[in-house]
Amino acid sequence: MKDKIFLGRCGKNCVFFDAQRLYNSHVTILGKSGAGKSVAAQKLLLEMVEGGQDVTVLAFNAHDCLNRETIYEGIRKDFLQNSIYRDLSNGELKLPLFEKTVMPNGRMKSDVDIVMSLTDALSKPFALKSRQRIMLRKAIEQVMHKEIYHKEGIAAIGNQLLALGDDVAENVYDKMYGIFGHNIFVDGNDFITQGKINIVDLSYLDSDSQAVAIEVVLSQLWNMALSCQIHKYKNVYVFIDEVQNIKYSTSGMLSILLSEGRKFGINLILATQVVTLNNANPTQRKMLQSGLVLYFQPSDCDMNMIAKMIDPKNPGQWVMELRFLNVGEYIVSGPIIIDGVEAMGPITVSGVDVDKADISAEVTPDHLDTRCHFVEPPQENMN
Ligand SMILES: Nc1ncnc2c1ncn2[C@@H]1O[C@H](COP(=O)(O)OP(=O)(O)O)[C@@H](O)[C@H]1O
Ligand SMILES: [Mg+2]
Repeated sequence: MKDKIFLGRCGKNCVFFDAQRLYNSHVTILGKSGAGKSVAAQKLLLEMVEGGQDVTVLAFNAHDCLNRETIYEGIRKDFLQNSIYRDLSNGELKLPLFEKTVMPNGRMKSDVDIVMSLTDALSKPFALKSRQRIMLRKAIEQVMHKEIYHKEGIAAIGNQLLALGDDVAENVYDKMYGIFGHNIFVDGNDFITQGKINIVDLSYLDSDSQAVAIEVVLSQLWNMALSCQIHKYKNVYVFIDEVQNIKYSTSGMLSILLSEGRKFGINLILATQVVTLNNANPTQRKMLQSGLVLYFQPSDCDMNMIAKMIDPKNPGQWVMELRFLNVGEYIVSGPIIIDGVEAMGPITVSGVDVDKADISAEVTPDHLDTRCHFVEPPQENMN
């Protein structure tokens, strides 16, 4: 993995994100629509995988942000060369959902463990009521007992729901029709390839099914991490764009990975338009505590709040800075290296295209551009 990942420029100086110094290397990208979040994220993902085989990206294409033709033109060719697309409706996402893996304590996963975790992952995004959950669990038990996942894929659960001959079960089938109809998971073990940007294409699914797909894939990743298989991938970065549109549960995988993923080498890169600082959304609070935050221009109504998040002691300066950000420019907060000097931000960076040949992290401090001003990092936590 590259120690320093190029972000952009501050005046004439190159700004890198210092992956070595990041104790919690989740990355959060905030800003209003059109500010440049997706382009910055795509550049970051590409920088990361181009750094070596030991970085693997798992990216969810939920809202057409990562369609081949929507990748930012300036990097499209390189990005696509480093990417693998998996289309869920084509049986291209192979997950060993019923495999008995070893758990961290050395115990083999039991049938009950498998049924419970799958029931959880499938029912949470649909907010199933208890009777509905029971029916889903029964259907999953049947699939396990009859060993039919490897033949029928996830559609097997739908078929077993219908076979229960119960109104509630039929109602659950109906809710999850997108999942069963598209048969989004089939048996196998091919959903992530080391050293690549692995794009799971969810763009044609309804939002509930998208949430299920994300939940199930992330819990598979998490299971792999717990059973140590993930170590062969070392650094996994999970990217989700437009997180504000994803239905995630506060006890779901996103929240678990934000809290604990880092320990197992799973980091999140989340881009979102909306943030609120209320306690009702602990997942968002955790996002704001990411090791690296890129603040693109927010909407007018969020300007003051974001400025306070950047620097609670001097928000006035940052309101001005935010107001005058152009597309592709952002304020970065976190461990960075600016022309060889370690810093913590916040500092304003332009990610607008530069000639890569110019980029060097080894310039001495004497060369620091005077337009770059360092400001003490915020002392308070955002909770
Ligand atoms: N770093 C950049 N360099 C050049 N153009 C950019 C850059 N970032 C964004 N743009 C332009 O702005 C448009 C919107 O950017 P995008 O990343 O899609 O915004 P967001 O994801 O915040 O809605 C892009 O299609 C591109 O034309
Ligand atoms: Mg975008």
